[in-house]
Amino acid sequence: MLSGYYGEPVALAMKIIVKVGEVLGAEKLIKVGHVHISGVSYSNIGEPGLRFMEKLLGPGPEVKVYTTVNPTCIDLGGGIDLFDKSLLPGQLRINKLLESIGVKPVYTCIPYVLRKPCPREHLAWGESNAVAVANSIYGAYTNREGGPLTIASAITGRTYYSGLHVLGNRVPRYMVSVEEPILDEAMASLLGLYIGEAVKDIPYLRYGGVAGLLQLKELLASAAASGSHGLIVIDGITPQGTYGMEERIEKLVVDWSVLRETYDRWSEPLELEGYTLAYIGCPHYSLNDIVHLVKMVSRYRRVRDNVFFLLTIPYSYYGSLDGYIDVLRSRGIHVAYGTCPIVSRFTRGFDKVLTNSGKVLFYLSRLHGLRVSLGSLKDIVEVVMEK
Ligand code: F3S
Repeated sequence: MLSGYYGEPVALAMKIIVKVGEVLGAEKLIKVGHVHISGVSYSNIGEPGLRFMEKLLGPGPEVKVYTTVNPTCIDLGGGIDLFDKSLLPGQLRINKLLESIGVKPVYTCIPYVLRKPCPREHLAWGESNAVAVANSIYGAYTNREGGPLTIASAITGRTYYSGLHVLGNRVPRYMVSVEEPILDEAMASLLGLYIGEAVKDIPYLRYGGVAGLLQLKELLASAAASGSHGLIVIDGITPQGTYGMEERIEKLVVDWSVLRETYDRWSEPLELEGYTLAYIGCPHYSLNDIVHLVKMVSRYRRVRDNVFFLLTIPYSYYGSLDGYIDVLRSRGIHVAYGTCPIVSRFTRGFDKVLTNSGKVLFYLSRLHGLRVSLGSLKDIVEVVMEK
């Protein structure tokens, strides 16, 4: 591949992987079972990014491995005017390019719902929340890759053997103990934001009670946003044998006061104000999450005036969940496919954002300067809908 036998784009892709591997001291390259491409939003990468992709994907290499792709900057369902439609032509050029080499047009950040990774399986995934879920919940091995490297892995089927691909690097250095059970996504998000800020190495997390996948994915997404964590070893969840343990480990106890202080520092009170965006679906909602939401909102009449209630879900669900989507739309909830507010551009402004995602809180408040309130799904629905 490196010699150019399979063509210039494959040689260029291999050169990128080899170079990164050399810089990181990798002893070899390895095959990967699934690539997830990130960094495909035209709003984020613009014409320079698109031109780079055209160069790399030039005259048609094919993907060598099962490859999925992250959300775009437009609603691929086409029904919502909130997202800037002037970005449509550029985004469609990117999508066409990716699909022409065999990338599955799923446009979602929860690729593990479409193909569940196996313990110890090597992956090359971009998208921080997906990487954290793959490593921490499924026990797969992946670093957090940038967009160009994921494309290079897709067309070579390889990545470099370094970082979280190596068992010896998957060793927690901090024991984080939470006395209380993780009650909902808001608490999970706060814990994730706190761990991301306070713990600078791989944590081992213990908490009281059980938490569902929705809570765990909010926790991992939040920690990956505030602290770039690609792996949190979770007691009773992370498969045995996919991480190492050392005897001496620093201990950190988290109680309500720590979470309260994190909430006060990050979040506005959960109240409506002016024109409000209620946003859920970061990370994208899975079928189970959607069914849970449908059951919850069925008890309400509709969304209050002056509130734009947005849910984002994978494009791969387009056309297959119409019964559920109809219920949501009948209540005034907008459902967007294959996109999210963080990788897109809005056509209107909001006075406040309510969300159940710590990752959204992090990006929209810290990076975009918006006023954001964190709450559980149940509390947000209670505030923004009327009976
Ligand atoms: Fe997914 Fe967008 Fe959140 S890509 S993880 S919904 S920021």
